[in-house]
Amino acid sequence: MSRVVTVGLGARAYEVVIGPGLIAEAGQRMAPFLKRPRVAVVSDETVWGLHGARLTASLDAAGIAVLPIVIPPGEQTKSFEGLASLTDRLLALELDRGDVLAAFGGGVVGDLTGFAAAIYKRGIDFVQIPTTLLAQVDSSVGGKTAIDTARGKNLVGAFHQPRLVLADLDVLATLPDREMRAGYAEVIKYGLLGDFAFFEWLEVNGAKVLAREPQALSHAVGRSVEMKAEIVAEDETEQGRRALLNLGHTFGHALEAETGYGAALLHGEAVAAGQAIAFRFSAAKGLCETQDAVRAEQAIAAAGLPTRLSDVPGHPFKAAALARHMAQDKKAEGGRLTFILARGLGQACVAKDLDELGVRDFLLGEGAMP
Ligand code: NAD
Ligand code: GLY
Repeated sequence: MSRVVTVGLGARAYEVVIGPGLIAEAGQRMAPFLKRPRVAVVSDETVWGLHGARLTASLDAAGIAVLPIVIPPGEQTKSFEGLASLTDRLLALELDRGDVLAAFGGGVVGDLTGFAAAIYKRGIDFVQIPTTLLAQVDSSVGGKTAIDTARGKNLVGAFHQPRLVLADLDVLATLPDREMRAGYAEVIKYGLLGDFAFFEWLEVNGAKVLAREPQALSHAVGRSVEMKAEIVAEDETEQGRRALLNLGHTFGHALEAETGYGAALLHGEAVAAGQAIAFRFSAAKGLCETQDAVRAEQAIAAAGLPTRLSDVPGHPFKAAALARHMAQDKKAEGGRLTFILARGLGQACVAKDLDELGVRDFLLGEGAMP
């Protein structure tokens, strides 16, 4: 029933197991990675309240003691304060370098726990048990870990690969529909960036994925993870092709920054709008056909996700403010902007050296204010 995708990183290769019922198997699947039968499980209050007892029972049954560390939900815990508090609790539990952390939650728990694992006593192993669609298809795979600072998101972090990822599709049953849609933005990203056949499949089956129909969900998560694993294995530290995974993120991050990284606009929603805007920008620059941008927009909108600036709370935005955020993007160099654009559906590419003024003009055409 479950499907295994390997992230091929030589001696650091690991498996991403995708399927139903994996929480019940977590104890037996994690046991081979433990030097002693105990594990510190980091989770947020919501996830722990809904699914903590089942995970504890599974680990108990395998003779593994659980040391739960339950943190408040929300992006604000992905901070220096959140990291200090977490590492202090790990020290208080007297975890040593042979111990293993488990990140049991969405991308916030995964990114924070992964970063703590990267630096705790100069690095310990960790396992990802992602519980949001976004975390299952994206953040739990590939080893990017980080916290946010007052100057922006994910600015302090490390590459630290997990030893195992257990993506239990059953836990998505309790995920709010809005979070499900936000995760779907990252699923559609894989089709748009590199797999036209998957994009076409999503055009037909997207509603089934969002409804958590088991076979559709399994295919969507499996294909997404397969694509991510292949890209990460080729370019672990984002020297080249991995940048394509940022399709929609430069425009999206600017919108997140303007809306305050909060409930007004979820990360996945920002990425959804960002992808539609990136396709229209690609069409405006003559890289792809207008029809491709229309089709990308229709598929994103069909999932109930934003595609236009006017769909985002806080509109109208100032073109100069959005462009300023983009100039601070990690990919910007010397005032010239880098975007992930597309030559067509399933054909993302890196476009370097774009002029900020040209981007501003395009944003004015998108409905931003001068
Ligand atoms: P999240 O971790 O904040 O989870 C969203 C909400 O859903 C939270 O309130 C959480 O408590 C709740 N939740 C989680 N699982 C649930 C479940 N099964 N049932 C009910 N509620 C549940 O958000 P997210 O969207 O998973 O992750 C966003 C974060 O991921 C951002 O910080 C982003 O920067 C990061 N991210 C990292 C990478 C990477 O490669 N490391 C990639 C993409 C995003
Ligand atoms: N989420 C983008 C990456 O992992 O590279």
